[in-house]
Amino acid sequence: MATPHNEAATGEIAKTVLMPGDPLRAKFLAMTYLEDAKQFNNVRNMFGYTGSYKGKEVSIMGSGMGMPSIGIYSHELYSQYGVENIIRIGTCGSFKKHVHLRDIIIVQGCCTDSNFAYQFELPGVYSAISDYGLLEKAVALAKEKNVNYHVGNILSSDIFYHADKNSPEKWASMGCLGVEMESYALFATAAYLNKRALTLLTVSDSLVSKEETTPEEREKSFTAMMEIALEIA
Ligand code: HPA
Repeated sequence: MATPHNEAATGEIAKTVLMPGDPLRAKFLAMTYLEDAKQFNNVRNMFGYTGSYKGKEVSIMGSGMGMPSIGIYSHELYSQYGVENIIRIGTCGSFKKHVHLRDIIIVQGCCTDSNFAYQFELPGVYSAISDYGLLEKAVALAKEKNVNYHVGNILSSDIFYHADKNSPEKWASMGCLGVEMESYALFATAAYLNKRALTLLTVSDSLVSKEETTPEEREKSFTAMMEIALEIA
C-alpha cells in the first residue's frame, strides 16, 4: 500500500530499516552490503532497498535531513509498512574534547531546540530516548569490534547554521556529546507508535577543535557503524 512519500507495496519492506540521511548513501550501502537488494522506493529520489544480510531480511532507506523529513518517513514505515525497528546511521558534530573525529556515538537520549513533541500535547517537556534493547546490542557489538565509542545524550537541532555561537558550549555543559538533526523526531515517533528506534553516529566534524573529516575518512568510519547496525538487524 503506497503512501504519499513511499511507493512500496505491502510486504516489500523488512521489519528492521537502517536509515542514513543521504538517499545515495542508502543506495551505496544496499549495493555493498545486501544480497539480492531490490529497490522499493523512488519517490522524491528517497531511495529504499530490501535485501538480506547473513540470511536476515533488512531494508535500507534514506531519511533526508532534519526532523520534518525523518518524521514523515519513519511515521509511514512504522504505521503503514509494519516496520518494528529503525536504526538511524548518521554523522554528527562533536561538542566534547574527548569525542574525537571518527568515534561512534551510540545515542541514549536527545535534547532538542525543535517543537516536534508539541503535537503530543504533553503537560511538560518530552525526553526522547532510544530503545534499550537495541542500545544494549549496539554497545556489545561496539566492544567486540574494538571501536572508539561513547554512549550518551546528544542535541537534535533544527538549525545547522546557528546564530548563537555559544550554543555548543551551553549544550556541552549539560553533558551533550554532539549535534545532529534527526534523532529526537525518530525516537518520539517510535514512542508514539509503540515501536523501537536507535541512532548510531560517526563524528564527522568537531565544534570544539574545528577539525573536519574528508569524505573518504567518513566513508571508512561509516563502515564500522554500518556493520554494527546490520548485525543488530
Ligand atoms: N550540526 C548539525 N548536524 C550535523 C553536524 C553539525 O555540525 N555534523 C553532522 N551533522
